[in-house]
Amino acid sequence: MKKKLVSLLTVSAMTMAMLAGCGNSATEAPAAETATETPAAETATEAPAAETAETAAEAVTETAGNADLADKKVGVCIYQFADNFMTLFRTELENYLVSQGFSKDNITIVDGANDQATQTNQIQNFITQGVDVLIINPVNSSSAATITDLVVGADIPLVYINREPDADEEARWSANNWNVTYVGCDARQSGTMQGEIIVDLGQEKVDLNGDGKIQYIMIEGDPENVDAQYRTEFSVKALEDAGWTVECLDDEVGNWDQATAQQLVANALSANPETEVVFCNNDAMALGALQSIEAAGRKVGEDIYLVGVDALTEALEDVLAGTMTGTVFNDHIAQSHGAADAAINYITGAGNEYYIGCDYVKVTTDNAQSVLDSLK
Ligand code: BGC
Ligand code: CA
Repeated sequence: MKKKLVSLLTVSAMTMAMLAGCGNSATEAPAAETATETPAAETATEAPAAETAETAAEAVTETAGNADLADKKVGVCIYQFADNFMTLFRTELENYLVSQGFSKDNITIVDGANDQATQTNQIQNFITQGVDVLIINPVNSSSAATITDLVVGADIPLVYINREPDADEEARWSANNWNVTYVGCDARQSGTMQGEIIVDLGQEKVDLNGDGKIQYIMIEGDPENVDAQYRTEFSVKALEDAGWTVECLDDEVGNWDQATAQQLVANALSANPETEVVFCNNDAMALGALQSIEAAGRKVGEDIYLVGVDALTEALEDVLAGTMTGTVFNDHIAQSHGAADAAINYITGAGNEYYIGCDYVKVTTDNAQSVLDSLK
């Protein structure tokens, strides 16, 4: 009898957790798990074969002068122009390409409007135009194999950015010696850093109701994306690795978007006033969360903690003001330069490694000002 009761309770607890979406994400997503175990997804520091964005930059200094880049055509596909982070990325990418000798008229950047069919058409158009290289931020990472086949079939080198294709796809590039690479950071590192920012505060401080558990809510980016999967998983894992007990009160998909996150966090906070930490997979959503935290009369650093990822200027200002606990710098400068350098290396014939990584940087009040200064 007793046993039955326990299992019934377990089932209903599980059902509730599933309704709330807690524990229903990255940890169980097969794609994320495969990637964890495969070398392709390893960080730049761990993978000896992987070039860092900076070494790629050095290599390029030697070759850029030889190439007549002014005549070369670059096609750039961005998954969605409305994305704050990708806006910083593409602006820097274009400026840097011009600084390296490309003509502005020969750089075409298109908006996939978060629709894979639209983006696939744009890729086909670039192929028809005969661009010399393509830089692609896929709408769906799961469409990478199709995209690669199209582009490689047209004999055009391809640099993927920001949304990492899965390990099986990356393995095809090296197996076939294709001119295809990925430039980006390892999202696991950003998640871990988010968790560490909370752990560094000390459990006493974060466990506001003193029940020995950290009550949190998670606001996820597009769950199709490894950045969202890994940040969700590894932020919480960092707390657990520190020996903390966690309790997920709510886990919602905000699709990287500020207004969506604002609404989700407003609902989550009114349903779960005992929330101690709000994890957001990016800063845009953390800014939305902050609006709702403030509207609920709560104060970050006093009765709730909030972390994001990206180090958007507004988020850095919030960290300095104490209205955000911390963020993680997603280095769009290193990544955009790395992507442009990789494109140049293909054009000059120098070639590239199949994975070009970079590091995230943990940002708290201690270094937010210097990160802000470095972005000016
Ligand atoms: C960034 C998000 C962005 C997403 C787009 C992530 O790496 O942190 O802000 O929305 O990429 O794919
Ligand atoms: Ca608690």
